[in-house]
Amino acid sequence: MCGIFAYLGPKNTASEMVIEGLKRLEYRGYDSWGIASKTEQGIEIHKEVGKIGEIKPTDLNLSSSNLAIGHSRWATHGGVNKRNAHPHFSENKEIVLVHNGIFENYLEIKNHLKKIGHNFVSETDTEVIAHLIEEYSKVHTFEESVHLATKEIEGRYAIVVISKEENKIIAARKGSPLIIGVGNDPNEYYIASDIPAFLPYTKKVIYLDDNQMVTLTNEELKFIDFEKEQEIEKRIIEIDWDIESAEKGAFPHFMIKEIMEQKDTLSRAINQEQDDIKKVAKEIEKAERIYLVGCGTAGKVCMVGEYLFAKIPKIKVNFAFGSELQNFKEFITKKTLLICVSQSGETADTLEAIEIAKEKGAKVVSIVNVESSTMARASDIVLPIKAGPEKAVASTKATTSQLAILTMLAHACNGGIQNGKQLLINTASQINDMLNPRYEEYIHNLAEEIKDVESMYIIGRGSNYPIALEAAIKLQEVSYIHAEGFAAGELKHGPIALISENTPVITLAPNDELRKEIISNATEIKARGGYIIGISPTNHEVFDFWIRVPDVGHSSPIVNIIPIQILAYQLAVLRKNNPDMPRNLAKSVTVK
Ligand code: G6P
Repeated sequence: MCGIFAYLGPKNTASEMVIEGLKRLEYRGYDSWGIASKTEQGIEIHKEVGKIGEIKPTDLNLSSSNLAIGHSRWATHGGVNKRNAHPHFSENKEIVLVHNGIFENYLEIKNHLKKIGHNFVSETDTEVIAHLIEEYSKVHTFEESVHLATKEIEGRYAIVVISKEENKIIAARKGSPLIIGVGNDPNEYYIASDIPAFLPYTKKVIYLDDNQMVTLTNEELKFIDFEKEQEIEKRIIEIDWDIESAEKGAFPHFMIKEIMEQKDTLSRAINQEQDDIKKVAKEIEKAERIYLVGCGTAGKVCMVGEYLFAKIPKIKVNFAFGSELQNFKEFITKKTLLICVSQSGETADTLEAIEIAKEKGAKVVSIVNVESSTMARASDIVLPIKAGPEKAVASTKATTSQLAILTMLAHACNGGIQNGKQLLINTASQINDMLNPRYEEYIHNLAEEIKDVESMYIIGRGSNYPIALEAAIKLQEVSYIHAEGFAAGELKHGPIALISENTPVITLAPNDELRKEIISNATEIKARGGYIIGISPTNHEVFDFWIRVPDVGHSSPIVNIIPIQILAYQLAVLRKNNPDMPRNLAKSVTVK
């Protein structure tokens, strides 16, 4: 979602660095951007609607500066326009601020500030924070004013503030990530909402935790806990991410790079600490009730989990989207186990579900990619998926790794962690064989054939029903073709009315006990003119187009989604969409 980048240091190219930093955050999804630089003349602000894309900092005629903050905005409060883009000034133009997240009680404070003479130029909640800080600064220092403001703001947020009068950056976090990069020059610092933004400059990082505020100057780095009102010490951590894994390399887009990386990522996911898997399996056995919670694609992974647990260890787990768990609050007790699945570990709805669970004393396990995320930090046990940075908005490699971990966990609950591991090792090696240029070319032919259709449907049964839903998400997200997934048996109860001559229907047909039934559903569709694309280890006469996948038993959800990821990518490219940054979507959704 929104991105933050700031620089303070000896170099006088702060504005350029901030623009380059924002470009590295583009993958998060945004619709406008802006930067504020502190120069000899005062504070210079530059805002634009649209993408930073190929803009060169030199095109913007920015003055030299060694302190600048920048932001890429994904609109929440107020439309997409320059006025609403960050950074935002205070009334007296002395204070400038960027903000991620949501300021829930902003209206109340805005109304109060209006009464005492403040005028607002934007519709954002962010501008209110700048004005609030200004109000405090009438009787307090800059630092105290930010501190006092943080105590008034309700919601999840990360803010980065500068003042015309001082050579310092103040940043605070509550529920939305902020990481400090410690530069190689003395007193050189970066602040970003995500590590890849400053990865070319440093691998030394300090994670800001919730309720913490940092003041960066040319002399010091000072941390306080703004709830407990005390100064704290923070550790510098050396991260082992390499810049290549966060860059596209020879691939035209991150999405295809990440799809192809599934040759390796699955094996990395399987190489979990066995003890941690066993620990979670024990918690599952102990729990009176289990909820699998996630949003978007991660939510579909959780739905697959529900089927895997019913099938393998025969344990009832409940699935809930992060935003829906609150409706089942009454059933959550200290004997409940919440297993959260997330790529970013920052999805607001899933974090809220964790809050609900924690209030009730329930245990929380998270299956996440970003190990330093809020979700990982809030969990009792973390199973990292180790997929490396995933930058395309449409999740691919994180999905299959999450599925692998749930499969292994289901086997572990059945006393057979080794069986699960063996199955997945076999699956990983077959995926390695499958992901070759010929396979891509083959799916490309199908994409060419169907690229102009208005709608397409995907059907599945059992653990492949949620994969049909996930397939629809993938196709919608990047191809913008209307796509819907259905439980195959439900088709005859309504959706079959949508089938007309040549409507493509992707049929997920693994070699399992449900194959006969799904083939008969495909036959019903074909009889009404549908064009059947079979994803299956074996061909069948009902298929008009067959995409072969390996025969991998309980791992069929993992192999079935991969050709659809490739198809969605190719449709996006053929339809001239940007698969990495689909319209209206964001990678990490930090608002409710
Ligand atoms: C956004 C992304 C999706 C993702 C979902 C959950 O909507 O666009 O790709 O599945 O958030 O994100 P998470 O980071 O929790 O997996």
